[in-house]
Amino acid sequence: MTRLGFIGTGTITAAMVRGLKASLLADWPIVLSPRNATLAAELAETFVGVAIAADNQAVIDGSDMVFLAVRPQVAEGVLRPLQFRDGQNVVSLIAGVSCDTITAWTGAQQVTRAVPLPFVETRADVTPIYPPQADVANVFDALGKALPVADLHAFDAYAATSALMGTYFGLLETAADWMVQQGLNGAEAKSYLASLFGNLGDVLRHDARTLPDLRAAHSTRGGLNEQLFTQFAAAGGSAALTQGLASVFQRVAGAAK
Ligand SMILES: NC(=O)c1ccc[n+]([C@@H]2O[C@H](COP(=O)([O-])OP(=O)(O)OC[C@H]3O[C@@H](n4cnc5c(N)ncnc54)[C@H](OP(=O)(O)O)[C@@H]3O)[C@@H](O)[C@H]2O)c1
Repeated sequence: MTRLGFIGTGTITAAMVRGLKASLLADWPIVLSPRNATLAAELAETFVGVAIAADNQAVIDGSDMVFLAVRPQVAEGVLRPLQFRDGQNVVSLIAGVSCDTITAWTGAQQVTRAVPLPFVETRADVTPIYPPQADVANVFDALGKALPVADLHAFDAYAATSALMGTYFGLLETAADWMVQQGLNGAEAKSYLASLFGNLGDVLRHDARTLPDLRAAHSTRGGLNEQLFTQFAAAGGSAALTQGLASVFQRVAGAAK
C-alpha cells in the first residue's frame, strides 16, 4: 500500500482522487493540501481514507508518492520551501516545468512528469508519463492506462496534443453557431453534433484504418465531406492547427514563456 499526497487540491487532483477511490487502489490512503478548503473538505467527507493535512509540508511527511498539482505560475514559490525525503517519489503534473527544474526547486531526485486529463475521474484516461517509472505507471494504470514515454520530445508532443480539448469544443461551437444562424435552436444543434461526433469517436477508437484512410472512407469523391475539408484546408484551417500545436509544444517544452 502506498500513501499518496497531493499538493494543490484543484480540478485535476479532484478528478484523480475520485478516480482512485473507484479503482483497484481504493484502499490507498490519500492526503490533500488544505487549499482549496471547500474542495478538500468535500473530498475528505465523500471518501474513506482521504485526509486533509495541516499544510503542504505535512502532505510530504505523510505520503510516499507526492503529486504536484499547483499552477505553473505559483509552483516555484510553493515548492521551494518544502523538504522532500531522499528517495521520495515526486510526480509533477505541472505543465511546462522540467524534471530538472522540479529537482532544482525541491532537491527531489526521483521526479516523474505526467499529463493526466479529466478522464482519470472515470478511469478512462491514457496518461503519458516521463520518464517511465513503474510505481507511477501503476497509479495511472488504475486510472485507465499509463503511457510511459522514454523520449522527452515525444512526451512534450503528447502534452501539446492534449491541449486540443478546447479546440475540439470550439470547433463544435462554431458549427453549432452556424446551425443556429440557419434557424435551428442551440439544443437541436448540440444534440445532432453530439451524435455525429460520438459516432465518429467510436469509429476512431475501434476502426484500425489509418486517419487518411478513414477520411477517404467518410468522403465520397466529389461529395460534400470532400468539399468541406478541401475548403477548410485551403482557408488555412489545417495550417492553423499545425501552427497552434507547434506553439503549444514550444511552451510545454519550456522554450517560450
Ligand atoms: N486541469 C487539467 O485537466 C490538468 C491536466 C494536466 C495537468 N494539469 C496541471 O495541474 C496543475 C493544477 O491544475 P488544475 O487545473 O487542477 O488547477 P486548479 O484547479 O487551479 O488547482 C490548483 C490548486 O492549487 C491550489 N493552490 C494555490 N496555491 C497553493 C499553495 N500555496 N499550496 C497548496 N495549494 C495551492 C489552489 O487553491 P485555491 O483554489 O485556494 O487558490 C487550487 O485549488 C497545473 O500545473 C496544470 O498545468 C491540469
